[in-house]
Amino acid sequence: MAAALCIGQAAAAAAVAASAMPSVGYEHRPDASGGAASGKSGLGGGDKTPLNIASKGFFCPPCITRFPPNFVRQSSIKARRNCSNIGVAQVVAASATDRSNPAAVSAAGLSSSAHAEVVDELGNGSAAAPTGANEALLDSLIASDDTLSREKSSEAKKSSRSKPSTLAVHGGERTRRPKVQDTLTIPICQTSTYTFKDTAELIAFQEGTFTSFEYGRYGNPTTNAVEEKISALEGAEATLLSASGMCAATTMLLALVPAGGHIVTTTDCYRRTRQFIQTVLPKMSITTTVVDPADISSLQLALEQNNVSIFFSESPTNPYLRCIDVELVSKLCHEHGALVCIDGTFATPVNQQVLALGADLVLHSATKYLAGHNDVLAGSLSGTKQCLSAVRALHNILGGVVDPNAAYLILRGLKTLDLRVKQQNRTALLLAQKLEAHPKVARVHYPGLESHPEHQIAKRQMSGFGGVISFEINGDLETTSNFIDGLRIPYIAPSLGGVESLVEQPTIISYWDQSPAERARLGIKDNLVRFSCGIEDYEDILNDVMQSLNAL
Ligand SMILES: Cc1ncc(COP(=O)(O)O)c(C=O)c1O
Repeated sequence: MAAALCIGQAAAAAAVAASAMPSVGYEHRPDASGGAASGKSGLGGGDKTPLNIASKGFFCPPCITRFPPNFVRQSSIKARRNCSNIGVAQVVAASATDRSNPAAVSAAGLSSSAHAEVVDELGNGSAAAPTGANEALLDSLIASDDTLSREKSSEAKKSSRSKPSTLAVHGGERTRRPKVQDTLTIPICQTSTYTFKDTAELIAFQEGTFTSFEYGRYGNPTTNAVEEKISALEGAEATLLSASGMCAATTMLLALVPAGGHIVTTTDCYRRTRQFIQTVLPKMSITTTVVDPADISSLQLALEQNNVSIFFSESPTNPYLRCIDVELVSKLCHEHGALVCIDGTFATPVNQQVLALGADLVLHSATKYLAGHNDVLAGSLSGTKQCLSAVRALHNILGGVVDPNAAYLILRGLKTLDLRVKQQNRTALLLAQKLEAHPKVARVHYPGLESHPEHQIAKRQMSGFGGVISFEINGDLETTSNFIDGLRIPYIAPSLGGVESLVEQPTIISYWDQSPAERARLGIKDNLVRFSCGIEDYEDILNDVMQSLNAL
C-alpha cells in the first residue's frame, strides 16, 4: 500500500512538473473536455450507470459548466425570448452535444429553432437533443417552471427521475468538468479526493502512465502550485507544504533521523522545536548536542564524536536573531555525512537562500512572511528530491496537510512577498538604528547592526536583514510591559512576519510557564521585546515606538 501511495504521489508531482502552467487538477480527466468521444456515459463512464438519469447515455456538455449562471442573460435577445426561463436555456445548452435524439428539444418545451439559436450562442454547432432518460433529468431541473411542469407531470416520468437526495448530491457536478487552465488565478481545489473514470484509468495512474491526484492527503493542485512557487523562490528541487511550521519540522526530523540517531541544534531556537527535540525524539533514542550558533569548534567536536544525522537550526534564530554561517556549517557537516536543515522563517527566500549556500533543506513557518497576512497557519520544507520524497512519504502517513483554502491564501500572499519583505527590511533596519541610540534601550539584537555578533556573516549571506528586531529595555519586567502597553500601532500577539506590526515580551507570551531560573538558563530575559515590523509607514512606527519609550 505504501508503495502505491508513493507512486501516486510521484505521479501527482510529475503531473505538475510536466506543465508550465499548472493545469490545476483537471488534467486527470483528459476525456473531459472534448465532447462525447468516449461514447461512454457522462455520469461516470463505461457501462456503469449509477444513476437512472444516465442509463441512456446522457452526456452533459461543457457549456453547462463552462458558462457562468449569468451567461444566458448575456445571450442574444432572440434566444432569451424563446426560452421560458434561464433554467430552460441552460438545460437546452446541456443537451447540445447529444446528437442521438432530436425529439428531445421539445422535451424541454422549446421549438427547435429556439434551440438552435441557443446552441449557436453557445458556439456548439449543430442542434442536439437529450434522450428519454435526459427528460427525467430535464424534468428535475426545470421543475420550477410551472408551464413545463404541468406538461410533463406524468407519474411514469416522475418515477424514472432521480430522487432529490441523489440530485442534490450529483446534479450539475457529475458531468464534464470546466476547463480551468484559462483562469488567471489558481483555483482552490476544495476536494478531499479525486475520481477515476474506470479501473483501467486507476491502474494507469498507479503505473504512472496517467497523471492525476489520488487523495487529498497525498496531494492537491492548489497546494502543488504553492510548492512549485516556493521551490522556485528557494531554488529547490522539491517542496512540501504542511499544516504548520511545526508539522514541517517534526515530520522532517522523524523522517530523516533514524532511531538512535544524533542531532546537532543551537542554543537559541523556537521553543517548540527545542521541546520536540529534547522531549519527544529521545523516545526513539535520538540524542542531541546543543551548540551556540557561532561555536564552530563545538559543532566540529559533535560531528567527530557522534554519528550525526542532521544539523538543524534557524538563521536568524528566534528570538535573538543569531546567524549560522551556513556555508561553513554545511561544509563541515557534509564532511561527516550529516544533513543540514536551516529554518529560514525569519529571513525569507527574499533575503537569504540557504540551499545555494550548501544547506540540504530549508524550512519555513509559512504562517509568517510567506503567507504574510496573519491569517493562515502553514509550514514548508524545500530541498533535494531525495530528501523531500522521504519526508513526503511520512507526511502522507502522518497527515499534516494544509487545507486548499489556506494553500490559496499562501499562494496569494507569496505574490507580494518581495514587496512586503523589502519594506519590512527597511523599517526594521532604520528602527534598529534609532533604538540602539536611545537611552531607554539597553541592547538591540538585529543582524543588520554592526554590534550584532554575526553581522559579518549576515552581510555575506543575506541581502536584507529581515523585519524582526529584538531589544532589551533599560528596566525590569514591569517597565518592559509598560513600554509594550504604551504602543498604539502593533498588536500584542505571538507570531511575526505579517503585514500588521506585532510586539511581544517573550517572557510573558512564550515562557510564562517557566520559572525565572529556567528562563535565565534559556537566556530569555524579562526586559526582552520582540518587535515584528509590519508594512505600516516607517515614520508612524518610529513615532509610536519613540512616544512609548519616552513615556517610561
Ligand atoms: C523560527 C520558527 N520556526 C518554526 C515555527 C513554528 O511555526 P508554526 O507556528 O507555523 O507551526 C515558528 C513559530 O513561531 C518559528 O518562529
